[in-house]
Amino acid sequence: MSKTTLSPIISGTMNWGVWDKNLTTKEMENMIQLCIENKITTFDHADIYGDYTTEADFGKAFHNSKISREKIQLITKCGIQLVTENRNNKIKHYEYSKDYIIWSAEESLKKLKTDYVDVFLLHRPSPLMQADEIAEAVEKLKSEGKIIDFGLSNFTNSQTELIRQKTEVSFNQVQFSATHYEPMIDGSLDYMQTHGIRPLSWNPLGTVFREDTKKTRRLKKLLADLVQKYSFGSDTLLLAWILKHPAGIIPIAGTVNIARIQSLIKAVELKLDKEDWFAIWTESMGDDVA
Ligand SMILES: NC(=O)c1ccc[n+]([C@@H]2O[C@H](COP(=O)([O-])OP(=O)(O)OC[C@H]3O[C@@H](n4cnc5c(N)ncnc54)[C@H](OP(=O)(O)O)[C@@H]3O)[C@@H](O)[C@H]2O)c1
Repeated sequence: MSKTTLSPIISGTMNWGVWDKNLTTKEMENMIQLCIENKITTFDHADIYGDYTTEADFGKAFHNSKISREKIQLITKCGIQLVTENRNNKIKHYEYSKDYIIWSAEESLKKLKTDYVDVFLLHRPSPLMQADEIAEAVEKLKSEGKIIDFGLSNFTNSQTELIRQKTEVSFNQVQFSATHYEPMIDGSLDYMQTHGIRPLSWNPLGTVFREDTKKTRRLKKLLADLVQKYSFGSDTLLLAWILKHPAGIIPIAGTVNIARIQSLIKAVELKLDKEDWFAIWTESMGDDVA
């Protein structure tokens, strides 16, 4: 069981920096403030965001904001080796040696201008990862108070089991949405519930606003009716769909749109009727359940 209490919706920072929105320090500061005012106190990072630059941009903004550290929770990840001028890698790969994990966590602390991260995740599974080494690194970081909880991201059940035999796994951050619901049918969410692992879902809106396909057209048509019925936006309905699952999934929202951030938390109070929940899944599948 995790020691950390995260907000019911998390803000993802992947697009805050040079990878996409290129927010200034002041804009990031305002974004952090806005999220907190709207009950989103947890921020999801990874060392690689912005080619290893977004953590530092956020850290500077957070430092300037003078918000006390206890008011927010920080998640970050390590392991992906990008080919970028900021690293000396020849090919994209993963690195999970003990020394590297410890070094990466400490780098994240410096960049985020904090003494600890609340949740530290391995970003993607590597066929070469050694569970013993990973566990040693995690235990050291925990004993030094540099990380509070440990978890994984994009790990299958067997990969999780490999690590969980050696050290406590409290979270697994996976892709999950009304259009990407495999974790719900391949046993991943059941496995996480069984072992007290909290699922976090990235890309919680799926392809609904990203792609124009038969699936997204069917979903948008249904969502337009549900928007009338519930008086909430389509994005809020899609988050509520995730929140209704008994595994206790926490969605990580990627928006930096002010109006959207102000309405994200409404998903927590929106109680979707069971038949509407199944209708969303049905339109996504393009078929009735069996
Ligand atoms: N662990 C991993 O491997 C992994 C992988 C990917 C992402 N992540 C994490 O997950 C976070 C969220 O991922 P995501 O960005 O894919 O999440 P998302 O919340 O599903 O998508 C966000 C995107 O949808 C747009 N959007 C939101 N509401 C909309 C609406 N009503 N109409 C039209 N467009 C809308 C946003 O644009 P606006 O900004 O304009 O609102 C933004 O471009 C990331 O920031 C990162 O922290 C983790």
